[in-house]
Amino acid sequence: MNRVRSTIACCVTAMLFAASTGVQAQNKIKVGFMLPYTGTYAALGTAIENGFRLYVQEQGGKLGGREIDYYKVDDESEPSKAVDNTNKLIKRDNVDVVVGTVHSGVVMAMAKVAKDTNTLLVIPNAGARAVTGPMCAPNIFRASFSNWQPGYAMGKVAGERGAKKVVTITWKYAAGDESVEGFRDGLKTTGGEVVKELTLPFPNVEFQALLTEIAASKPDAVYAFFAGGGAVKFVKDYAAAGLNKTIPLYGPGFLTDGTLEAQGAAAQGLLTTLHYADGLDIAKDKAFRSAYNAAYKMQPDVYAVQGYDSAQLLGAGLAAVKGDTAKRNELVAAMEKAKIDSPRGTFTLSKSHEPVQDMYLRKVEGMQNKYVSVAVKGLADPSPGCKM
Ligand code: PHB
Repeated sequence: MNRVRSTIACCVTAMLFAASTGVQAQNKIKVGFMLPYTGTYAALGTAIENGFRLYVQEQGGKLGGREIDYYKVDDESEPSKAVDNTNKLIKRDNVDVVVGTVHSGVVMAMAKVAKDTNTLLVIPNAGARAVTGPMCAPNIFRASFSNWQPGYAMGKVAGERGAKKVVTITWKYAAGDESVEGFRDGLKTTGGEVVKELTLPFPNVEFQALLTEIAASKPDAVYAFFAGGGAVKFVKDYAAAGLNKTIPLYGPGFLTDGTLEAQGAAAQGLLTTLHYADGLDIAKDKAFRSAYNAAYKMQPDVYAVQGYDSAQLLGAGLAAVKGDTAKRNELVAAMEKAKIDSPRGTFTLSKSHEPVQDMYLRKVEGMQNKYVSVAVKGLADPSPGCKM
């Protein structure tokens, strides 16, 4: 009897202790990274993870007062494996939030699983318009950009610089298609037009036949969406074919971000548009760059910034509920209202949960995508189809 009584006493004490400190505060928050760690986008995945971890470290290893446990899945930028990979994090590892990914085709499958399971999803890159368009949902946030945004800015700049007839070249998947769509919309505001759309399957890098076709078409300019390893190869091949001497090459900044050391001379002078640039006169950027450099012994790129901002956005939500992820509505409301003090410049989210942000024109000089000007101020994707 005494034994039973003391057991009860012990359990009651434990329960009271748990109630007074908040059970949540005892456990770590499980963050699941679903990112490409292999393939043409591998470096992008690593930069995102680095950026995310840096912000958490700066907060003493905690968000909303709780420590973080990380889980990782390599999505290989492979849409056909995306549902299984997302489920590894959600069903096997039981994560509280999924952070991913880079590839638009993969993120669309992730968004579907996140919606079906009501899991919080923070997108640190992939710009697929569908996830903040027809698929938009309270539990889906994007801390990066929509594929349309940098494309639109570049279209405007290319037109203002005299391009009337432009050939586009991309990988044939959502990111390439939507980047070209934005470019076409921007170019149209200046009276220019896209006369030919060339594509090849992702992640193919056999560009030769298409470069021959570009040379024969003699357009005023070329607009190219490629990123990571594919962007390195494309920019080098474009220069090796001598096209950089005769036909200006434009692109969203992914064409030259995180790639300049590998592209070397071939990239010099290229103009691109993006929501980040080197040489921004922003105090937060200066602090971020020196902290990133100290932690990882290299300069950050746009992907590192997006990882950092994904952690900031999640942190804003978790701070509002003191780490209690069960208070989902409050958490989401705080994320929606967040003003992110980003290295790219402060941004807020649109109703569809996507950054409203400045698009910068940049020029490659040495190993930098040097800030030139603001190409479009406070650009919001119109997010067609989102009913939130
Ligand atoms: C995408 O698939 O949405 C994507 C991938 C790489 C980038 C940008 C967009 O650099």
